[in-house]
Amino acid sequence: MSEKRGRATVVLGGQWGDEGKGKIVDFLAESHDVVVRFQGGANAGHTIRTEGQEYIFHLIPSGILMEGKDCILGGGLVVDPLELAEELAGLRARGVAVEGRVFLSSSAHMLLPYHKVLDRLEEESKKGKSIGTTGRGIGPAYKDKASRTGLRAEMYAKEDERLERILMERVIEINRTIAALYDAEALSPKETVDKVMAVKPVIEPMLVDSHRYLQDAMRAGKDILLEGAQGTMLDLDHGTYPFVTSSNPSIGGAIVGSGVAPKNLGDVIGIFKAYCTRVGNGPFPSELHGEEGESLRQEGAEFGATTGRPRRCGWFDLVAARYSAEVNGVTQLVITKFDILCGMKKVQVCTGYRIGDEIHQDYPRDLSLLERAEPVLREFEGWSEKLGDARNWDEIPEAAKVYLKFLSDELETPILYVSVGPDRKQIIPAGEF
Ligand code: GDP
Ligand code: IMO
Ligand code: MG
Repeated sequence: MSEKRGRATVVLGGQWGDEGKGKIVDFLAESHDVVVRFQGGANAGHTIRTEGQEYIFHLIPSGILMEGKDCILGGGLVVDPLELAEELAGLRARGVAVEGRVFLSSSAHMLLPYHKVLDRLEEESKKGKSIGTTGRGIGPAYKDKASRTGLRAEMYAKEDERLERILMERVIEINRTIAALYDAEALSPKETVDKVMAVKPVIEPMLVDSHRYLQDAMRAGKDILLEGAQGTMLDLDHGTYPFVTSSNPSIGGAIVGSGVAPKNLGDVIGIFKAYCTRVGNGPFPSELHGEEGESLRQEGAEFGATTGRPRRCGWFDLVAARYSAEVNGVTQLVITKFDILCGMKKVQVCTGYRIGDEIHQDYPRDLSLLERAEPVLREFEGWSEKLGDARNWDEIPEAAKVYLKFLSDELETPILYVSVGPDRKQIIPAGEF
């Protein structure tokens, strides 16, 4: 046994997703040995830019670009094996050494072609009340998991004939549901089974007992990075239900989805964008409609990495952020896209919600209240210095530091890094205020 037991650092989204988790996981992967995605599926779109190249990961952990680091898709994921095979092939074609470095927990659930069909049908049937999902089959796959009818990655270890039979029965069963609930076309059982079987040679060798792997790694002194997808405000339990995803992007999901026990956790790093964005439907009290929102969208290139949809944009929401920091027990903050705020005359922060005659500083869990919430804004002086080339804390202008200090004080959490551009190098370790 190594003298020093390895620990697990958690990186999770503090807002509504797309905070820049991918970039930060890639950066932190250098000082860790193993990167584990702990929940969600290919609804995620994690972008990394380095040496003029851009990569978007939907399933593969964002540590894959750091040579020599192992990457695990944890048990908490719903994994589309076709998407995973395609993502691996895409990386291989770009010269990334993936061989022997990507492992799939045998207890992760399989997201199969019919889950995507069901996702679309469910959304269409909700008419004006749709969630605005990514269409990646996430809800239906987690539904199967919770109903105990899901198929786990371990299925790929079965003999071909047996697996084909199981899949065939499943598709026929799903077709019955589709016929009973929706006036929609059935899936071709043979075509569906063939597609899922075709990637068996890619997926089967990746299977791992992730519990054993991670326990042994920590015993050997290896440090682990747990990578969240989505964000706390999209959490099935803690987010703006029902306008959420179907997993737990918050700290509980990190523990369940990786199997790493709380006593082995180190820091819980909350990633927060310097403003807020949301894709899909649901309450967003600090949302900016009109020109200001459009300007943030253009400056910040706020278009979905998975669906290409324009992201809704708004000011930093301190009410939601405080709640999120509490839910997760965030020990350190990373503020991303800080460069995007430069050049604004005034920068605002939503410090409370006005609901009727009352001002709420605590995040209201009641959707009907949230839907009526108007932002109470606090104004900060802007700064004109472009920060893309800044690498040291000293290069951040005083006015910008006032804004950062306010966020850190209000969230009662120190800032670890400030990110000032999409590139791996565009990051500044925070100093004293
Ligand atoms: P994730 O889902 O949390 O990994 O975030 P996304 O990749 O969906 O969205 C973040 C977007 O912002 C990506 O296009 C990143 O390349 C980009 N990005 C990340 N950090 C910064 C930053 O500090 N400044 C700027 N301008 N872009 C950033
Ligand atoms: P990353 O990991 C932003 C949103 C969808 C929709 C809701 C439910 O890149 O931050 P789902 O397909 O999960 O059933 O959709 O969640 N959503 C995301 N928004 N970033 C993401 O991932 C998201 N993944 C899902 O837009 O509102
Ligand atoms: Mg994203």
